[in-house]
Amino acid sequence: MWLSTNAAAGAIAGQFLSVFPNSDSMQLMRPLSICETDSSSAPGKIRLVYRVVGKGTEEFSHLSEHDSVVIIGPNGNGFFAPVKEKIGPDTRALLIGGGIGIPPMVELAKQLKCSVVTVAGYRSRNDMFLTKELEREGELVIATDDGSFGHLGTVTDAIEQNDIDADIIFACGPKPMLKAVAALSQKRGIPAYISMEERMACGIGACLSCVTPSSDIDDHSKVKNKRVCVDGPVFPASEVRL
Ligand SMILES: Cc1cc2nc3c(=O)[nH]c(=O)nc-3n(C[C@H](O)[C@H](O)[C@H](O)COP(=O)(O)OP(=O)(O)OC[C@H]3O[C@@H](n4cnc5c(N)ncnc54)[C@H](O)[C@@H]3O)c2cc1C
Ligand code: FES
Repeated sequence: MWLSTNAAAGAIAGQFLSVFPNSDSMQLMRPLSICETDSSSAPGKIRLVYRVVGKGTEEFSHLSEHDSVVIIGPNGNGFFAPVKEKIGPDTRALLIGGGIGIPPMVELAKQLKCSVVTVAGYRSRNDMFLTKELEREGELVIATDDGSFGHLGTVTDAIEQNDIDADIIFACGPKPMLKAVAALSQKRGIPAYISMEERMACGIGACLSCVTPSSDIDDHSKVKNKRVCVDGPVFPASEVRL
């Protein structure tokens, strides 16, 4: 879904939009990652790529051209805010996406001005999406759970089998994948920044429904929890307990 919106200007890869269903029976926003931005016209455009899993995303899938939808955003910190390392033209960035964690990797690959290898994990060949866009922005390695395309196995299996090395890792996907990425980061001594997809209610830091345990104290709640919607969704892998 491409949205015409002023929110495109200055949006950072890894940020998300809070999208409100139009139906009165659904009060809460649905967070969707910014997949791509286009600021070549005014207002700019933001592309969202989502899987239909419930009533909210089902409603979005019936929107057509010229329909409108209420959004708040761009929200969250994005991929660059928590990064402590310098990213220069010689940096080798490894982007890892799994399932609905793949969309933000497209804008990240576009915004990174360095060498990019993306490893994308899908259930099977029939579930593959955004491959053309990812290939356009750098090298793409694909892993499928059933081996119907690319490497048989997980994204981390594909990284080990291809002996892919990097200076920095960015990842978004399901928790088991993020855990494996955090372990890989520790084993190889490569800093990793991971984007968490916790369930959210307000998206603006007020309700605490999205908290995740961390090694750091949250300024707002004064406990070792971070609000994924405003402190994240991107965190150094070493700072969150998965
Ligand atoms: C920061 C962030 C970015 C996201 N980006 C994307 C994206 O780019 N594309 C995309 O397809 N989805 C993305 N999601 C997940 C998306 O927000 C949910 O799938 C959506 O809110 C579901 O709404 P619904 O009304 O269709 O389903 P609901 O009726 O709310 O739920 C249907 C089913 O989906 C599960 N579900 C709902 N939310 C999540 C979640 N956050 N994580 C895992 N399971 C969930 C529920 O447990 C339930 O089983 C993102 C989530 C976050 C927090
Ligand atoms: S969703 Fe309400 S605090 Fe994060």
